[in-house]
Parts: sequence; C-alpha cells; structure tokens
Amino acid sequence: MKFAFFTPILLLASESGAWNHVSGTELLKRNGNEQTLIALAQALEQEWTAVQKTEGDKVVSVDCSAESKLCHESGVSSFPAIRLQQPSGKQIRYRGPRKAAAVQGFLHRTSRPTVSFVTPKNSSIFQSIDDVVFIGHFGTHDSHLQRQFETIAEKYRDRYSFATTSGTVRQGAPPTVECFNNPDSTKRSTSDFPTPSSLESFIKRCSTPTIPQMTRRNELSFYQTRQSIVHYFVRSDAEREAYVAEMRPLAKKYAEYLHFVTTDADEYADAAEMMGIKRGSSGGLSVQNPNNGDVFPYMRREKISAGVVEVFLGDIIQGKVKPWRPGGGHDEL
Ligand SMILES: *[C@@H]1O[C@H](CO)[C@@H](O)[C@H](O)[C@H]1NC(C)=O
Repeated sequence: MKFAFFTPILLLASESGAWNHVSGTELLKRNGNEQTLIALAQALEQEWTAVQKTEGDKVVSVDCSAESKLCHESGVSSFPAIRLQQPSGKQIRYRGPRKAAAVQGFLHRTSRPTVSFVTPKNSSIFQSIDDVVFIGHFGTHDSHLQRQFETIAEKYRDRYSFATTSGTVRQGAPPTVECFNNPDSTKRSTSDFPTPSSLESFIKRCSTPTIPQMTRRNELSFYQTRQSIVHYFVRSDAEREAYVAEMRPLAKKYAEYLHFVTTDADEYADAAEMMGIKRGSSGGLSVQNPNNGDVFPYMRREKISAGVVEVFLGDIIQGKVKPWRPGGGHDEL
C-alpha cells in the first residue's frame, strides 16, 4: 500500500496542534468508500486546519513516525506530501501551493470524473467550476481526438477540469476544444490539431496565467522566447495578487512582446540583485532584455501602477532610460 508521510519532527507539531492523525489500518478501511485526502506537515498546519473545517472527515493526516513502514513503502522523498486517495486505493499526487484554497480546489476537481459530461444546458455552469476548464466537443468521427483528450485529462486532472459534450454535438461540425481561464477572464477555442502534440500545447498555452510566477523550474521557458521580461519581486501573496490584478490588462496588451512575471524576492534574492533591485526591498520592478543582457530597474518616484509602467516601458523603447550596470549605479536621462 502507498501512503503519505512526514519527518519525525512533525510528530511534535502533531501532538500539540489540530492534527487528526489516522493509522494505516484505519486508512485501509476507508478504501472502497469515500475518497480520502492525506496530508502531512508542519508549515501546512494552519492551512490544513482550514481545509479540515470545510471538508470534514474527507481529510486526514498520517503520522509517518508512527507509520514508518507504510510511509517508507510509499517511496516519497520530500515532506509534507498531499495525496488524494481514490476508493480503488490509487493515489493522485498534489503539486500545488500549500494554501487551503488551492488544496480545496484539488480535492473538488479530483473528486469529479476525469472527464465530466455536459450538455448545452449545463456547460455554462461547468465553465466556471474551476480556475481552468476545458470542454471538448467531438463528433462520432473524432474518436481518435477524443481519446487523446481523455489521456491528457488523466495527466492534468490534478490541475484543471475537463468535460466533453459527446453525443450532443451537431453533425458535421469540426471537433473543437474550448478553454476557460477564469482568473484571467480569457476564453479560447481551437479546431486546429495538425500534430499529435497540438492538443497538449493548447492546454499549456491556455492554462498559463497572463502573469505567471517565475521559478527555477520554469525560468528557461521565458528566456527561450527572447522576449523582454518585466520582473516584479514580491514578498507576500497579497503583494503578488495586487500587482497581478493591476497589471493584467497591460500584460495582455503587450503579450506579443513582453513576459510579465512575478518572482519571490526572498527565495530569489540573488536574481533580484542581478536585476538591480536592492536586497531586502519589496515591490521591485525591473525590465530585462535577454538578447543583450540589459536590465532597467524601475527607480522613479511614482508609485508603480499600470499607467506608470506603460510610460516606463515606452521610455526604455525610445532609449530614454540607460541600462543599469552592476556596481556602476544607475543613471537615467
Ligand atoms: C449535465 O446534464 C446532463 C444531462 O442532464 C447530465 O447527465 C450531466 O451529468 C450534467 N453534467 C454535470 C457536470 O453536472
């Protein structure tokens, strides 16, 4: 059997906190009835308590210092780990942020079928059921594409929600996949699937937020396109959310030329410094041209807003702002 896990340190946290650990045998007994979400952690405890409050006994944690064999057999290398255990005993791994809302989203989405069925009547409700939703419209001759859609849904079901309208589709219409990115208020659709990877590319393009978070894992993808990058370094989620809300229209307007990203100022303190942002400061904005290495940290007095940033970008393009040099200070014309 496979389960989830934490370090012995967490046992201490669990004795004093709101943890509601279950034993391995108890967990086994749950197989065959409801789905069970498993988690372990110390840093996670507050968020976890919030999840437990709304989800009740669908949510349990396992103490790996007491269930070491079980946890060892799971072969998981880092803690804490969150899994959805399906009635069959099969587990789905959670990869998202350690935040109550994100964990709840995961629980709800993975509790639905991998691909739901919708009709013209209820498809609009389904469109807003999750942050990112895909709806496939396939006719009787599109079974190959439909199978591809189902395979992709299996792969991404921990992150996005999927449905089809199979059987309700009008004859002769081309197969179409619609995408709803609700946080970004964008809707896309495609009937163009020239290669086997077309569908997955569409899934990726559509699910990428207008202003994503840059991390070590995805940074290359931004540099590869050679577009200039508008960095913003943040120290909290609230700061990130406020910035994204303010800049989203601007980022959409310039999406062809610029990547707007946010980056954790503490985790990537070195990167912030390389972009000309003083160590320890937050809310630093800097524009980077990956083609020649030029960086343009925002050092003007005005508070950062979409309007102010648009003017700053225009000044950079017109050569009114000189690139910043490490150690050489900063001069602006
Ligand atoms: C939409 O309606 C159909 C027909 O009533 C039903 O079978 C299906 O389960 C519904 N889908 C969702 C996601 O509620």
